[in-house]
Amino acid sequence: MYIAVFLLALVGVMSRATEALDNGLALKPTMGWLHWERFMCNTDCERDPNNCISERLYMQMADVMVKEGWKEAGYEYVCIDDCWPSHQRDAQGRLQADPKRFPGGIKKLADYVHSKGLKLGIYADVGKNTCAGYPGSLGYYETDAQTFADWDIDLLKFDGCYMDWTLLGKGYVNMAEALNKTGRSILYSCEWPLYEWPFQQPNYTAIRETCNHWRNFADVYDSWSSIKSILDWTASHQDIIVPSAGPGGWNDPDMLVIGNFGLSHDQQESQMALWTIMAAPLLMSNDLRDICPRSKELLQNRHIIAISQDPLGKQGYRTAKVDSFEVWERPLSKNRLAIAILNKQEIGGPRGFVIRAVPGWKICDPQCNVTQILPQYKEMGVHTPQSKMVVTVNPSGTALLTVTPISSGFKALNKVH
Ligand SMILES: *[C@@H]1O[C@H](CO)[C@@H](O)[C@H](O)[C@H]1NC(C)=O
Ligand SMILES: *[C@@H]1O[C@H](CO)[C@@H](O)[C@H](O)[C@H]1NC(C)=O
Ligand SMILES: *[C@@H]1O[C@H](CO)[C@@H](O)[C@H](O)[C@H]1NC(C)=O
Repeated sequence: MYIAVFLLALVGVMSRATEALDNGLALKPTMGWLHWERFMCNTDCERDPNNCISERLYMQMADVMVKEGWKEAGYEYVCIDDCWPSHQRDAQGRLQADPKRFPGGIKKLADYVHSKGLKLGIYADVGKNTCAGYPGSLGYYETDAQTFADWDIDLLKFDGCYMDWTLLGKGYVNMAEALNKTGRSILYSCEWPLYEWPFQQPNYTAIRETCNHWRNFADVYDSWSSIKSILDWTASHQDIIVPSAGPGGWNDPDMLVIGNFGLSHDQQESQMALWTIMAAPLLMSNDLRDICPRSKELLQNRHIIAISQDPLGKQGYRTAKVDSFEVWERPLSKNRLAIAILNKQEIGGPRGFVIRAVPGWKICDPQCNVTQILPQYKEMGVHTPQSKMVVTVNPSGTALLTVTPISSGFKALNKVH
């Protein structure tokens, strides 16, 4: 009896890892760039040639990603969002790029992006139309999947506008099957739960089997209130959504807006720290051709990216709310822990937080080694459960730390002798 229960539990734990969509992709959170938040549906190439949705924009972004260290830091996907297609399908019923804005066509653009060692993402919609009113894929899943494969596309963001919500699941699953049938590995980014939540709690087991990442909540805006609303939504649904994240499939809280206009530097650090704790895809939406050096340094911070890409592949949780601080923790490989302490008191100056109040601090028994990563990199040395260490956090800023437990091996050895 005991053995049966134990075996069942073991099977449950082991099958966890195999539930993800089996296309070999997104074993770590996706990193790249996506046009939407910064460039939206700007199709006016006559008056605004530098910022309109055109092949030129993605070619320039790809160039900068190679030249300015983005690719080397791990950012790999250059992603097109809505407003790329022509309003008409071609004579064979295939999607085609707007001929004025993409004179070379998408295949040429993919070749260009690949020649830089990067990957190209594209956008379509499960329903009758895209959110901006371009042709949707409903009734054309196999045609569109094959078109994307023929173009050598590497990622599909599949939106959920103009779709009867009761058909969402079927639609997303059918597109996943159509993509699989092409034989090309195409990373599949879904918005299924976002469009289902207003009606019922989505089935995250099914979503994880179908998609490589999935949007749950509203679009990110270039504002601190938007970042806070995403964090609040995530924390208040974490018991439902966090267990479904892991290698092959991730919750997607939407783009990084670091390097734009709406966030202070402290708030940019908060977005970077917490998106990393959430094991979120790191898809920047900003203008890499013109970005302030501090934002660039933050987005390319190798210590933060190492947490994001940690091989254990577990998403973190909000574990405490104390005195207008929020504590978020993400388990890392080798029994390490990442801790983010967000100061939500938006009045006054920097405030201190006593580190031993972090619930996961118990891994410091008997000892641990602490490294602070934000706001500055600092090795904080060896600590114990009784540590008196205080970290100072600016209003709307975040301190990010990693903690490595030190086993009692040496101590025990000393006692023996
Ligand atoms: C298609 O699905 C099968 C079964 O899940 C999987 O083994 C295969 O790698 C998939 N192919 C692609 C191109 O994703
Ligand atoms: C959720 O989806 C899984 C996998 O497709 C299925 O086995 C399960 O029955 C579904 N659960 C519910 C409550 O519908
Ligand atoms: C603590 O971590 C830092 C940074 O990784 C490392 O340089 C240092 O040697 C570690 N100290 C101990 C005692 O493990």
